[in-house]
Amino acid sequence: MNLSVKSRVKISYSLYQNYIDIIESYVSDYYVENHWNKLPESWQSSLRSASMEQIAELLDLKRPVTKGVFPLSLLCLRNIISSIVISRDSIVVDSHDAHPDQSFLKYFWKNVKLKKRHEIEKMAQICYDAASKTNCFHIVDIGSGLGHLSRMLAYGYGFKVCTFEANPILSSLAREMDIQFENQLESKSIPHKGRFETKHINKIIDSDMHWTSFLNIVTKAFDENRDYFKFGIVGLHPCGNLGSKLLELYNNCPNAVFINIASCCYMKLTLVEEITAGFPLSNYCKENGIRLGYLGCEIACHAIENYVEKLKRQEDYCKLKIHAYRARLEEILVSVDASQAVVVDNLVFLSGVLGMDTNMKLVEGGTAAEARQALKNIGHILEAAGSSYKNVIKNTVMLNDIKDFAAVNEVYKEFFKKDFPARSCYQVGKLPLEANVEIEVIAIVGNARTVESKL
Ligand SMILES: C[S@@+](CC[C@H](N)C(=O)[O-])C[C@H]1O[C@@H](n2cnc3c(N)ncnc32)[C@H](O)[C@@H]1O
Repeated sequence: MNLSVKSRVKISYSLYQNYIDIIESYVSDYYVENHWNKLPESWQSSLRSASMEQIAELLDLKRPVTKGVFPLSLLCLRNIISSIVISRDSIVVDSHDAHPDQSFLKYFWKNVKLKKRHEIEKMAQICYDAASKTNCFHIVDIGSGLGHLSRMLAYGYGFKVCTFEANPILSSLAREMDIQFENQLESKSIPHKGRFETKHINKIIDSDMHWTSFLNIVTKAFDENRDYFKFGIVGLHPCGNLGSKLLELYNNCPNAVFINIASCCYMKLTLVEEITAGFPLSNYCKENGIRLGYLGCEIACHAIENYVEKLKRQEDYCKLKIHAYRARLEEILVSVDASQAVVVDNLVFLSGVLGMDTNMKLVEGGTAAEARQALKNIGHILEAAGSSYKNVIKNTVMLNDIKDFAAVNEVYKEFFKKDFPARSCYQVGKLPLEANVEIEVIAIVGNARTVESKL
């Protein structure tokens, strides 16, 4: 089926909406929230008897299903998905003089995960095209991670490369990998262009870094004359707001003659009108009301190939069990926290408490209702510890969405009327059981007094 990208997006979005329960969930939720029961019965019975190999085959959209008998509805969904995915295999390699030697590429890809190959190949080609047009073969790879792209640019295309990486472990691993890679290429007499040693700089590009400081570091790393020196900037998935910072540096620094960035990961996609952080989805998505939830964005970062490979190989399959262990741990934590507290001398520390009723289910009614129930639960735990709301000295409120702060604050005032405890409030990535709020408390068994700072 020859579908346009827009049609693929439209169909994907309708599948996303129909299967949101399964898509918008971590693997651990599958166990904790019993997603199995949400599958149609016919799917359950065929999947229950399928071997790991058969499930791997079902997930591997590149090949037909040859083993096992699956319900038509499941196979039909598989067919629709196969027809809309844009395969990572469809790499069109432009041939030009500088393209790395085939033997080099064969060797290089051995160390790189499948999902990274396409982007590294494309990014390197685009850098080379930009470099040829600007006659500038110095490049700065920012947020370089393990340095796969910088290694391709240096050894495959002959760029002089310097990298910036915030994580010192990744910087030094990148250096080690360079040395190892170069030694292997030399020992096997594989042609390469790595004539210059890549400088891996362990440094954070702060959001307030001035372009002149950036330029100083780059010129020093390349040991170049500042006035004549030109370079390009490359960023492959710069996370957080690093991508927009790179655009700002490029915009201001006259020595930066080209920039090539491949946005951040899906986690930072945003649809808000006034973008202060993250990256916008396309206008097409915006105009057609296409919205992805937080989990939908995160799931988009997972590569199905990894799961297929792990299911196929018995020894790797065991690694998938980590999700089951994590889920069990989550269940244990959730089931014990409603009555768990530790008393040390005259202090009582409560675990995070959710708005759960006696059936261990979250109460209905949203954040305010959950907060009220959580605070009631806290009252019972405090009482059991010989304490009370009046003796609470510190509250930590964790919210799924910080916008709910005002609603929780209203409920909070029902329980804490004067001599307010110290309090912190955070928006967190995800709370157990998809809760909207969790509250953690420290109280004393005795009398508390408040302190006003002069600051
Ligand atoms: C999503 S990873 C991408 C790594 C690599 N470019 C790749 O695609 O495999 C982003 C990397 O940027 C680094 N990073 C994030 N913020 C940074 C900053 N402000 N300055 C330098 N590095 C940063 C992180 O440590 C991480 O290694």
